[in-house]
Amino acid sequence: MADYITLNNGNRIPQVALGTSRISHEKLEVTIKRALEMGYRHLDTAFLYGNEAAIGKALQEHLESTTLSRQEVLITTKLYPNFMKGSAVGPALDESLRRLRLNYVDLFLIHVPCALKEMDTYPEKVTQSREFMSVDLRETWKAMEETVYMGKARSIGVSNFNTKQLDYICEVARIQPTVNQVEAHARFPQKKLHEFCKSRNIQLQAFGPLGSPCFTGSTEINRVQSSDNLVEHPVIMDIAEKYKRTPGQILLRNLVQRGMAVVPKSENPERMKENLQIFSFSLSDADMNKIDELDNGVRRFVFLWYKDHPEYPFDDVC
Ligand SMILES: NC(=O)c1ccc[n+]([C@@H]2O[C@H](COP(=O)([O-])OP(=O)(O)OC[C@H]3O[C@@H](n4cnc5c(N)ncnc54)[C@H](OP(=O)(O)O)[C@@H]3O)[C@@H](O)[C@H]2O)c1
Repeated sequence: MADYITLNNGNRIPQVALGTSRISHEKLEVTIKRALEMGYRHLDTAFLYGNEAAIGKALQEHLESTTLSRQEVLITTKLYPNFMKGSAVGPALDESLRRLRLNYVDLFLIHVPCALKEMDTYPEKVTQSREFMSVDLRETWKAMEETVYMGKARSIGVSNFNTKQLDYICEVARIQPTVNQVEAHARFPQKKLHEFCKSRNIQLQAFGPLGSPCFTGSTEINRVQSSDNLVEHPVIMDIAEKYKRTPGQILLRNLVQRGMAVVPKSENPERMKENLQIFSFSLSDADMNKIDELDNGVRRFVFLWYKDHPEYPFDDVC
């Protein structure tokens, strides 16, 4: 069972969430039910992933056939960048809730700070329009706050925001962002952004925490800048052997021990189980330092698609 962390609004979230992007479509429902049986209590999805409907169906069926209650399972979803105008945010969440068969989500995140031209429909399969749109992030945030006042989101936050963008919304926020979900792993440990988030009491949640070993990315959207595989790295493998754990567990333990929440994706039952079992051991300072030395400052997700967007988050600030 995952350990919990308390957000700046007092709500608690499990420190491990199951990542659901790239879980193969045919395995999705069975994987969600299996995850809940194993003890996962936090599922991470997004409108973009096109899997909210399948997750909603699996969750509903599981809740109806077990003693588990809705309140025990946390669901994160994310605002698609085509719905960042203030007037579009609430209806976009309503659509996600409809697909998820829920009347609230536990965590609602702005997926990226880069608004795209508004769509007037909600496609089942998302193909992003490339047309950029200028939307003041404070306008989007104000509409995110409304979703809390309406009782449709228990907590709100952001994803892929840099320090400047966080400060920009925090300065006027009536509800502070609870979470910033960003890429973080041993190669790209986000030290500066993490310190900044801690100073603002914003929880950093790491996506790609294993270094996305199988993700090759499309050259257009996410040019993958490094091809190394962290789960096979000799330093990680040595530490794994020493603690009698798997390399994946060492990578995740390193991040949770630094105080991050993590979102590992797996559809393999053994690996799903091991990714939850990271709370009964701790790494020594010396081993944490060895992992620190793997930092090469190279992102795997550069969101090349948004490179020329005025709010592209990864240029000069952390
Ligand atoms: N906010 C954002 O912009 C954003 C961007 C990207 C991702 N995300 C979220 O973060 C989640 C995870 O990201 P990700 O899938 O890119 O990266 P990841 O979790 O670092 O890596 C997933 C890969 O590692 C494998 N794996 C899982 N557990 C393992 C273990 N213990 N040992 C060895 N290999 C293991 C998985 O294969 P098997 O399935 O075969 O185990 C899969 O190929 C996504 O599903 C999504 O929910 C968010």
